[in-house]
Amino acid sequence: MSPTPVITVDGPSGSGKGTICRRVATALGYHLLDSGALYRLTGLAGSRAGLDPADEAGHAALALRMGLGFGVDAKGEERVLLDGEEVTDRIRTEQAGNLASIVARYPAVRAALLERQRAFAQPPGLVADGRDMGTVVFPEAPLKIFLTASAEERARRRYNQLKDKGLSVSLADLSREIAERDHRDASRTLAPLVAAADAISLDSTGVTPEEIVARVLALARGRF
Ligand code: DC
Repeated sequence: MSPTPVITVDGPSGSGKGTICRRVATALGYHLLDSGALYRLTGLAGSRAGLDPADEAGHAALALRMGLGFGVDAKGEERVLLDGEEVTDRIRTEQAGNLASIVARYPAVRAALLERQRAFAQPPGLVADGRDMGTVVFPEAPLKIFLTASAEERARRRYNQLKDKGLSVSLADLSREIAERDHRDASRTLAPLVAAADAISLDSTGVTPEEIVARVLALARGRF
């Protein structure tokens, strides 16, 4: 039997990966792995347990045993559970993203999450969204996308997303935080944000999500 088809989509925060992955997964009837959510959940589990952000072993232990739940509610909105408790909005704050980026640097945390991420590859297929999906977690994936967008456009997208949720943020603060997070994600020694050698790079600056989804689906049709 051939292995489950996996499409990896890696790229920096705000490149549009989440939207693209959800739509591609829906179009193909595939499962979705939001690997960033696993790092966000690890950070949240740690802060709930009162761990110091510097406690690598403590976060790794939580990453191994925390209870995960991903799904959609009756209105089709995403729902994320941590140990049975709904935390969807809690993990999407900038604070949760920054904590995720800190715990994501720990080798023991990345190791703890590796098999948990691979377990999402179930028939009929998987779309995997993250930073190291094509390089580390699914190096054999037959289709790898590296999605980028200019830093200005990514900051503006985040700003609009947060504003829609009724959260007040400043565009200048967001731009600075995005630049800091990009730097931290790209410069860490373990699983840094880089395109896999066999990834296809797509730039979403000024391009609609529909166009990007169509490109990915066309590429998928040629491979699966
Ligand atoms: O995609 P996101 O913003 O939800 O990710 C949150 C943080 O988790 C991000 O700063 C980097 C980290 N991350 C990672 O190191 N590896 C992944 N595969 C996904 C996310």
